[in-house]
Amino acid sequence: MVERYVMSIDQGTTSTRCIVFDHAGRLVSVAQREHRQLFPRPGWVEHDAVEIWRNLQRIAPQALAQAGVGPEQIAAVGIANQRETTVMWDRHTGVPVAPAIVWQDTRTDTLVDELARRPDAHVVKQRCGLPLATYFSAPTICWMLTHIPGLRERAERGDVLFGTMESWLIWNLTGGPDGGVHVTDVTNASRTLLMNIHTLEWDDTLLEFFGVPRAMLPRIRPSVQTYGVARRVVPGVRIAAALGDQQAALFGQTCFSRGEAKCTYGTGGFLLLNTGTEPIGSTHGLLTTVGYKVDDEPAVYALEGSIAITGALVQWFRDRLGLINSAPEIETLARTVEDNGGCYIVPAFSGLFAPHWRSDARGVIVGLTSYITKGHLARAVLEATGWQTREVVDAMNADSGLTLKTLKVDGGMTADNLLMQFIADVLNVPVVRPMVAETVSLGAAYAAGLAVGYWPDLEGLRRNWHRAGQWLPDMDAGRREQEYDNWKRAVERTLDWIR
Ligand code: G3P
Repeated sequence: MVERYVMSIDQGTTSTRCIVFDHAGRLVSVAQREHRQLFPRPGWVEHDAVEIWRNLQRIAPQALAQAGVGPEQIAAVGIANQRETTVMWDRHTGVPVAPAIVWQDTRTDTLVDELARRPDAHVVKQRCGLPLATYFSAPTICWMLTHIPGLRERAERGDVLFGTMESWLIWNLTGGPDGGVHVTDVTNASRTLLMNIHTLEWDDTLLEFFGVPRAMLPRIRPSVQTYGVARRVVPGVRIAAALGDQQAALFGQTCFSRGEAKCTYGTGGFLLLNTGTEPIGSTHGLLTTVGYKVDDEPAVYALEGSIAITGALVQWFRDRLGLINSAPEIETLARTVEDNGGCYIVPAFSGLFAPHWRSDARGVIVGLTSYITKGHLARAVLEATGWQTREVVDAMNADSGLTLKTLKVDGGMTADNLLMQFIADVLNVPVVRPMVAETVSLGAAYAAGLAVGYWPDLEGLRRNWHRAGQWLPDMDAGRREQEYDNWKRAVERTLDWIR
């Protein structure tokens, strides 16, 4: 019998990756390509959606070739994607109307302030579970409809389509202008500010609040379900899953039970806690979001703590300050000193996300003295990720009434042992890492495989999870709380900076 595999596409903030997995959830081949980050003005971050689509057209055949398999051996394709990033394109030509606006972009900060002052602003959180912030898609859609001449009329006529990256890729894979399927999944839709978190449908009140024409929106579908058959790139293969990348990691980490949590450390850090089949509203600055929805089964919800900058701070340290040549060197540099020397860095580069939600915050380095070396700065860079995780976990424990017992981690930064130990220390819980570190891709593959019966059920997937690393807490409680207090005072310095 011919062996079958599942392919995942992870369309992330910095690159697109295609991975072929086998039935044991093992990685068979991987192909990846970075795309350009466009910074046309301070605070603006854009991607070229066509470049991303072309990258996928190159890497998917590479991944197949490396695995030595043809599309006929791929049981299904699953997609995970950077969330919130907004693409709009012409339905008839497939050409984007403008560059895609990335989730880190803060051009809508004044608009968001104006919207927040409206007397009916409270409907937003009530209906979609999210605070008003530049991070999400709806203000970006508003901005594009207002600033691109003639766009609103075209969108109202249904000539221009909106999507996050999974919609854009699915539409192109399934035929583009020639019959492409225009869909999104519940997890991605739950990041737009336009979907009702209870009904899982586009919400008329929210569409009206943001002035978004319904005609441009994709159909909302479960995360695990066949959307269509690819006509390009992997012809004949079913596209059977889509999840926002952080939800895909939750799935890949097999956090299928209420109370299980994972944190993915990439450009940013995203901690998601499975809260079961009822959405929990946050009063501590977290997001209520959809974790996943398997076909006709009830949706599983999550509370999310989104940290805008984690790995991106290491990149900044490398590329802008030039103090290291490669990201892994930060650990070596940090180990040249015993502690942070009293120095703290709060990387509020695009404001602060959870639990503060302050788009006006800007980064600070505090505690500088002539004693401070680049080693101390390297420590402060890594510790910023630890303290931001602590803030989010505190909020999560308070919101959910559950106390986090263990944190499953994944993503590039988990290769840094010093950081993983620090996170265990400041959270005072064990931190564990799975064998397959590519949990985003694995989650998308699992979801697609589940949709087409390649894997029978969630329990089978859970059996594939194996622990590769563990860090146990080992910090004196007095020191932990003293340093956390210092961190919180540093965070206060980031606020009210812009006048
Ligand atoms: O919400 C933004 C998130 O989905 C981005 O993740 O890994 O592409 O930086 P990543």
